[in-house]
Parts: sequence; structure tokens; C-alpha cells
Amino acid sequence: MPFYHKLGRIPHKRHTQFRKPDGNLYREEVMGLEGFSSIQSILYHYFLPPRVTKTEDLGPLSPEFVEFGPIRHRAFKTAQTKTGTDPISARTPLLGNKDVILGVARASKSMDYFYRNAQAYETWWVHEGSGEFRSQFGSMPFKKGDYIVIPFGTTWQMVLESKEARFFTIENPSQIEPPNRYRNEYGQLLEHAPYSERDIRLPEELETHTERGEFEVRIKVRDRLTRHVLDHHPFDVVGWDGYLYPWIFNIEDFEPITGRVHQPPPAHQTFQAHNFVVCSFVPRLFDYHPDAIPTPYNHSNINSDEVIYYAEGNFMSRKGIDQYDISLHPYGLPHGPQPGMTEASIGKKETHELAVMVDTFYPLYLTKSALDLEKPEYMNSWLEGTGE
Ligand SMILES: [Fe+2]
Repeated sequence: MPFYHKLGRIPHKRHTQFRKPDGNLYREEVMGLEGFSSIQSILYHYFLPPRVTKTEDLGPLSPEFVEFGPIRHRAFKTAQTKTGTDPISARTPLLGNKDVILGVARASKSMDYFYRNAQAYETWWVHEGSGEFRSQFGSMPFKKGDYIVIPFGTTWQMVLESKEARFFTIENPSQIEPPNRYRNEYGQLLEHAPYSERDIRLPEELETHTERGEFEVRIKVRDRLTRHVLDHHPFDVVGWDGYLYPWIFNIEDFEPITGRVHQPPPAHQTFQAHNFVVCSFVPRLFDYHPDAIPTPYNHSNINSDEVIYYAEGNFMSRKGIDQYDISLHPYGLPHGPQPGMTEASIGKKETHELAVMVDTFYPLYLTKSALDLEKPEYMNSWLEGTGE
């Protein structure tokens, strides 16, 4: 998150001697994005950071994409996706392009290893479950509704408290940040923003581990997974400061922007990234013009593929969609409420829907796993009645 934070013990001056009680030096590490021209943090380690005792290639990790076929609206059922493993192992990529990979993870175990994605930001939206997100920057408890935003290069581990947890995942080789239009020239969130810095949760607990032994770190980089074995615990940081660190924003802290007539999708925008945006649909009052139509109008998202993960509530404009489903309304044809939904929405005062939407500026490809979860009848959901 682009504001300054510090935790633990750090020396007064950067790049100066900082010693352990036994007189030896702590090891300074500068972690910076875009060749140290973007956000960065400085961490002070107990052990020398490059120490790795074993390396092993665990194979390719890029999603396997398939031909899209004729352009059409598509939907995918994720309720019964595989479970039985930890969040990283359970993750199934469903849609993606060079800007972003979207997936789901239904986990039932904590991670007994550490993980680092060195080629992308990862955002884990917690639909169900709770636990602790641990990293070298400190720990944060997580719960339903949290967007856990993890910058490139962060070494982390997720420990589940609940028996099972469900996530919608976003992986992108760019930064996730609040939209520019909600920030002033100093990066501070403005008064018309749907959330403020107070809503952002930061690592507040820093535990320094100095244990020796064998510690496994799995690293995603160059579209492959590498296993490293360290001879020390990777969370050996005694202090750090800077702008680069994981943070959490809960969807319930998103204050909906409503109006007399229907508000367009940018009103729901929560984050921006390179070539896509993330939006939150949250419980809210509907439009209050006496003749307002609360459902969206038909719309052609001319050059934007639209993905929605349906989390809770009755989605006002959708038929054929169940909880945990994902819809993909690709560009190239209009979409809108199915027959009868517009009429049914008139006079409704509020909605309890909860959904996460990702709009990408370039077309998304489907993975083989997405095909297995597809609801092929979805495109026909607009065909009931006479169509008038
Ligand atoms: Fe739409």
C-alpha cells in the first residue's frame, strides 16, 4: 500500500551498522519494485538472505489455455471445486491473459511450507473461512470478505483457523492499488473515495524467528515453481520500514456510492492495476428516482471483458447463476438483465448482493479447468419469452 509503515527495530540511518546483541551485524535487504524506482521497503534480517541449501525445479506453472470458440457469454460453477489441500495447492486458475490470472481456491489445510510469487502481485479475496496470514513483514488475521493484497517478492504462509476456506484469487504482474481518481498528489485517499486509510489493515505483529533447521520455500517465477530449502526460518526480520508490504481491505468497509438513477460500474471500483480493475458489489440502497430502474441497462462493455464472482445474495439482474458461480461477459456482444428481471426490480429499495468483479481491458482466455466447470446453458438464459 503506498504509504509509509514501519515495524520492529530499525537503525536511525539507512545503510549503517545495525548490530545484534552479540555484536554481529543484522543483514539489510532493500526490496524494491521496478528496479528501485517504485515502492520499496528495507528489511533487517537475522540471517544472510541469499542462504539456500537446496534448489529443485518443480515444473511449469502457467495455466493451460484453450480455444474460446464463438464469442458468447459463459458461466462457471465453482461450488464443488477440488479441496483437501492448502490454499496454494488448491488454487485452480480459470481465466487469464498476460495482465491477470483469475482463479478459485477451496482449501482445507494450512500451508506447511512458505511461498513467494516473484513474478506477480497476488490478491486473495476471502469468501469463506478465517485464519492468519504470515509473512516476513509480520502477521495479520484474515476473515470473510478480506482482500489480502500481497506484493511481488513477499514470502508468506497461510494458516487456516476454519475447517475450510474459499478464495477468489487475482494474480497480476503489476501493482494493485486504490484508483488514482480517489487519491491526491501525495497518494492520500480523498474524501469522495469509498474507503480510507483507516480501512486498510497492515501487519502489526512482527515475530522474529531465529530457529535453524530445514525450511521449504516454494517460489513462483519464470512461470515455473522452484523449491528452496533454507537452513533458517524465513521470517527472521527484526524490523522493516517502507511502502512495500502486504495489506488487507475488507469488502464490508467499501462504502457503496448510490444515486437517484443507476450508477455505472466505476462507482464500484475498488482497485486499479495494469489493464484491469477490481470492483466490489456490496449491500446497498437502490436508486431513489421515483421512476428509477434498479437493474443495469443492457450494456456493451466495448473493450472490456467482465468477470463476476457471485458470493452472496440474490443477484438482481442474473438468472441461471448460483452462489460461487463466475460469469464471463466478453466484449463483442452486449449483455444485461435476463427476461423479466428489469420489471421485477422496479420498486425494490435495496440489495444484499455481494460480488467481486474484474474487468480486463484485453480478452481473457479460458483454462481447461474452466471448461470442466462450465454451465453451457448460460447463453440461453436470455431467450425466455418473446424478447420484447
Ligand atoms: Fe455488465
